[in-house]
Amino acid sequence: FDVSNREKFRPAYHHTPIYGWMNDPNGMFYKDGVWHLCYQWNPYGSKWQNLSWGHSTSPDLIHWTRMDDAVIEPDGLGLIFSGSSAIDKENSAGFGKDAIVAMYTSAAASQIQSLAWSDDDGMTFNKYPGNPVLTLNSEARDPNMFWNPDTKEWTLVLAHALDHEMLIFTSPDMKEWTLQSRFGRGLGAQDGVWECPDLFELPVEGTDEKKWVLLCNLNPGGPFGGSATQYFIGDFDGKTFVSDTDASGNVPTKWLDFGKDHYATVSFSDAPDGRRTVIGWMSNWQYAPEVPTMQFRSANTLPREIGLFRGADGEIYASSTPSPELEALRDRLTLDVKSKKIGKKPVSFRLPSENDGVCEILADVNPGNAAKVNLELSNSKGEKVDMIYDVNARTLSFDRRESGIVDFSQDFPSVTVSPTFGDGKKISLRIFIDRSSIEVFGNNGRFVMTNLVFPNEPYSALSVKSENGTAKLSDLRIYSIK
Ligand code: FRU
Repeated sequence: FDVSNREKFRPAYHHTPIYGWMNDPNGMFYKDGVWHLCYQWNPYGSKWQNLSWGHSTSPDLIHWTRMDDAVIEPDGLGLIFSGSSAIDKENSAGFGKDAIVAMYTSAAASQIQSLAWSDDDGMTFNKYPGNPVLTLNSEARDPNMFWNPDTKEWTLVLAHALDHEMLIFTSPDMKEWTLQSRFGRGLGAQDGVWECPDLFELPVEGTDEKKWVLLCNLNPGGPFGGSATQYFIGDFDGKTFVSDTDASGNVPTKWLDFGKDHYATVSFSDAPDGRRTVIGWMSNWQYAPEVPTMQFRSANTLPREIGLFRGADGEIYASSTPSPELEALRDRLTLDVKSKKIGKKPVSFRLPSENDGVCEILADVNPGNAAKVNLELSNSKGEKVDMIYDVNARTLSFDRRESGIVDFSQDFPSVTVSPTFGDGKKISLRIFIDRSSIEVFGNNGRFVMTNLVFPNEPYSALSVKSENGTAKLSDLRIYSIK
C-alpha cells in the first residue's frame, strides 16, 4: 500500500501504521540486512484498543514495508502489550536455531509475560503453549531480553511499573526465569509508572571505557509533562545493575530527548557493526488519542544511534545522532549560505517549495556577542515555531504555542528546553521537518528535541534574528527530501 499522501499530516519519511492506532515500538531486530520494527497496534481503529503487534520491515530504516495484518494477536491470556525480540542463535529455547523469539506482556486483569517464536523472520509467530513464562503478583510489563555472551544466559529487564523499579532476571532458555536484582527505587524521576526498559553496553567516546545504559521510560513525570525517556549510566555484572548515580549521590535526572514527543524508546537487537540503534514512539500519552490525524494515529521517531560522552560536569551522558542512512534522504540542496551576519532585524530564508512540509535544515549558530539567537519557522497564516538559543543559559528552547492546530489538548501548547551540552559558543543544528514533526539534533547528537506540530499549511520560511549583539549563521544548508 502506498499511504504517503492521503492526509496532510502523515509523515513522508517516518514510519507510520497503515491504518489505526500505534504506540510503542516492539521487538525490533536486525537480520540479514533487514530492519524489523514491530509495534503496539490497533488494526481496527485509531484509539488504544485491541493491542496487537504490527510488523514492518526496511532495508534502510527509511522505506518501510508494512504487513497488512497483525503478527501477534490477543488471545485468552489478554492483549499483547510491549516487549522485545531476540535471535536465538544457540537454540536455547528449543524453537529452532536462529528462531526469532518474542517476549511480550499478556495483559488482562493481571500482567504476565509470554513467548512467541517465528521461523520465517517475523512474518508469522507461533505462541508458546506453555505461556505464561513469568507471573508476578503485581503490575510488571514490557520484557526486554538479550543474550549475554559473558555469562552465556539470557538477561531480562522487566518494568515493575507502579513500584518505579526495574527487575532483572536471568534464564538459560527464556522459559525459566530467576530474579537476580532490582534497580531504581528512589532513583531518578519517580513519578507515574516505569515502562519499556532496555539495557546495553557502549564505549565512552574518546576513552577505552565501556559503560552500561539502562533506558527507563516513564509516564507521566517527563520534564515537560507526560511521557519521556530517562536513562541511567552504570555497570552491570550479569546480575545487578549499579548506576553511577548511586555512587555520586546527587546527579540530575538524565533525559534522552528534551521534546514532548519521544517515548517508549528501545533499541534493535543484533544491529550490525556494534551500532545501538533506537526508535521511539513520537507522541505523548497526554494527548496521543486526540492528535488531529484521521486514518492513523502516531508515527515513530527517526532512527538514532546512541553513543556515550563525558560532559563538562564529569558525568557520562547519552548522545543521539540521526542514523547514517538518513543522509540518503537528501534530494536538492535548495539553499547554501556560507556565512550570514545576524542582527536584531530578522533575516529570512525560504524552505523548499516543492516539498510540502518536508525538509532538512543544517546550520551552525555562532552567537558572537549576542545574548540570544532566535530561529523561527513560519507560514503565511502566521503560524510559527520559535527556537531560541539562550547563550548564558546554554539552552535551546522550542516554542510551539502558535505552531498551528494546538487546541485539541490543553497539554499540547508548550515550550520545551534542552541543555546544549556546549561551551556557550557555537552550536550546530540539524533539523528534520516531516509535515507534523520537528526533530532538532544539536552538537552532533549531544542533545535532541522531538516535538509534534500541526500547521494548517507547511512552514515556508526560516527567519533568524539576534538579541543584544551580532551573531553569525554559517554553513546554512537546506535540503528537499526525496
Ligand atoms: C507504554 C505502554 C507499555 C505497555 C503498552 C501498552 O506506552 O503503556 O507499558 O506495554 O504501552 O500499549
